[in-house]
Amino acid sequence: MVKRTIVTLPGDGIGRAVLDQATRVLDAAGFEANYVEGDIGWEFWKSEGDPLPQRTLDLIAKHKIALFGAITSKPKDDAFAELVPELQKQNLIYSSPIVGLRQHFGLDICLRPCRTYKGNPLNFIRRTAGGGVDEPTVDVAIFRQNTEGLYGGVEWSNPPGQVHDALMTHPKFMSNFGDTPIDELSVSTRIFTRKATERILRAAFEYAQKYDYTSVTVCEKPNVIRETSGMMYKMARDIQKAEFSEIELWNTNIDAQMMWLTKNPENYGVIVAGNMFGDIVSDGFAGLIGGLGFASSAQYNPETGVGVFEPTHGSAPRYADYPVSIVNPIAMIESACMMLDFIGEQAMAFRVRNAVAEVVMEGKVRTYDMAKLAGTADVIDKGAASTQQMADAIIAKL
Ligand code: NAI
Ligand code: MG
Repeated sequence: MVKRTIVTLPGDGIGRAVLDQATRVLDAAGFEANYVEGDIGWEFWKSEGDPLPQRTLDLIAKHKIALFGAITSKPKDDAFAELVPELQKQNLIYSSPIVGLRQHFGLDICLRPCRTYKGNPLNFIRRTAGGGVDEPTVDVAIFRQNTEGLYGGVEWSNPPGQVHDALMTHPKFMSNFGDTPIDELSVSTRIFTRKATERILRAAFEYAQKYDYTSVTVCEKPNVIRETSGMMYKMARDIQKAEFSEIELWNTNIDAQMMWLTKNPENYGVIVAGNMFGDIVSDGFAGLIGGLGFASSAQYNPETGVGVFEPTHGSAPRYADYPVSIVNPIAMIESACMMLDFIGEQAMAFRVRNAVAEVVMEGKVRTYDMAKLAGTADVIDKGAASTQQMADAIIAKL
């Protein structure tokens, strides 16, 4: 096996604790890599005025594959106040380094798989007709367009005159908002391009085909948001008809989907959505398989091969100062498995997932979330496993 170079981006808070354990698990699985650490996050904002320094971008551009822990973000004014005094004189505005990474490398495909680990006490259950409980297996892969839509950043409060003039050419704007003074208007746009929409749809269908999912669901709201959601659904129909006729195409509205996933989550396979609805539906499904300790993601650009793999959770700053880390490393370890899949090490990813599955199934080693404890520093005394003990248990299975 060729020794890979992997960029590690621990970031802030619990990011380092989970990332350290994920690389230990990768080592134990026999993955041969050099890890080079990239600077990202709050420390670099405070000291350099840039949470995503150019040297980190260069490192990722060179090596293409990054494992990312988590970062801390704070509101604009707090961010300014924490800058070192000499930087406060410059007109620096904080922006999230994750969003920065997505935009810089065009990481427009975001994949968030949500699969049940059998025996996880956090699994979704529902009542049966007879009054018992039923624990359906969830196996869903959510493809979220990661760079456009409502999170594309094209927005204004008190928009410039030309923007207002342009809006006034729309009859609905004129009749519903035309009388509102400009300085009382805030506008956030939802831009979908055909190119990015086709890429996310194609990624979803190709994944469904590769992993034998029988359906792809477009989860949007085309009956109301006719232009953007409507375009996505129509393009999905064309792509399905021309190239993936063996896969069923379903169409759900985001609001109804959020209800159905709490009733019959086992019915869904691959789901594809725009940026915001993808964010929402993936958090919904993550809640059914154990929540933040289990939710992983991949963000990548299929053309350049740049991929960043990270748990969905944030830096959980409150937990970062505990003498022993208590957070669940499985979301990060699962993200590392997605990295292995991405670089063609599927067999190794399979082994790591099996090791995780065995530990979860056995139920002897459980982090505080799995033990259903409040996340206080003394959970270890109450019988919960630490971050490291969970990784140790997984490594023992390997
Ligand atoms: P969070 O995800 O950091 O934590 C929320 C709660 O979830 C924690 O208090 C903890 O109870 C639980 N949790 C998180 N990770 C866990 C794990 N691995 N195992 C067990 N339980 C876990 O979200 P929060 O508190 O809203 O944000 C904290 C900071 O993280 C903020 O500065 C926010 O901007 C940032 N953030 C960063 C993200 C990223 O790096 N991708 C994503 C979300 C938030
Ligand atoms: Mg989210």
